[in-house]
Amino acid sequence: MKTISIALDGPAASGKGTLARRLAADLGLRYLDTGSLYRAVGVATLQAGGDPGDPAAATKAAETLDIAKYSPADLRSEAAGNAASKVAAIPSVRAALLDYQRRFAAQAPGAVLDGRDVGTVVLPQADVKIFVKADFEVRLARRVAELRAGGQTIIESRVREDMAARDARDSNRSVAPLVPADDAWILDTSAMNADQAFTAAKAHIASKLNA
Ligand code: C5P
Repeated sequence: MKTISIALDGPAASGKGTLARRLAADLGLRYLDTGSLYRAVGVATLQAGGDPGDPAAATKAAETLDIAKYSPADLRSEAAGNAASKVAAIPSVRAALLDYQRRFAAQAPGAVLDGRDVGTVVLPQADVKIFVKADFEVRLARRVAELRAGGQTIIESRVREDMAARDARDSNRSVAPLVPADDAWILDTSAMNADQAFTAAKAHIASKLNA
């Protein structure tokens, strides 16, 4: 039986994670949050006393990563997200994580992967590619609400600065920058709630898979 692969890329707090998880459950596919791999490498580098921007320290963390050691709570903080976007700019870190992602996607019945470069680099042959975007202010409001709901005390101006810095790093890095694949379908969730985004994405996927 052919496996199905669905790539969902987009910037921080675009809604891609919630959408990808829900699509995977609905379609009976496996789900991989590829950002959690970069977050875990960032956290592991910091825990080892290293600097996430240091290629040697970050590459060592990536090559010896045991993803099972990290709970979602360890990985969802802004600090983890920032460390992630620093290690993610290092080519040897990306190379170390590539195989894991491809092997995950290749297992039956297939998978939904969300990230930044799934449609462009990890799975260029994905059956469906969706690039999820939303206006900066909308994403900021979502991220603030998400962090507060998780019980974190945050300063909104700091989250704003961090998100802008992360957007810039992710979009401008030389390796696997955040850009839609040429054949990606663009879903702008700025004016959509989670249900509306799900309905739109599901219709698109059905049209691609049945084409
Ligand atoms: O999606 P999430 O916010 O968890 O990703 C954290 C960071 O990991 C991103 O800012 C990005 O720098 C990096 N990342 C990446 N490629 C991916 C997924 C995440 O570079 N496929």
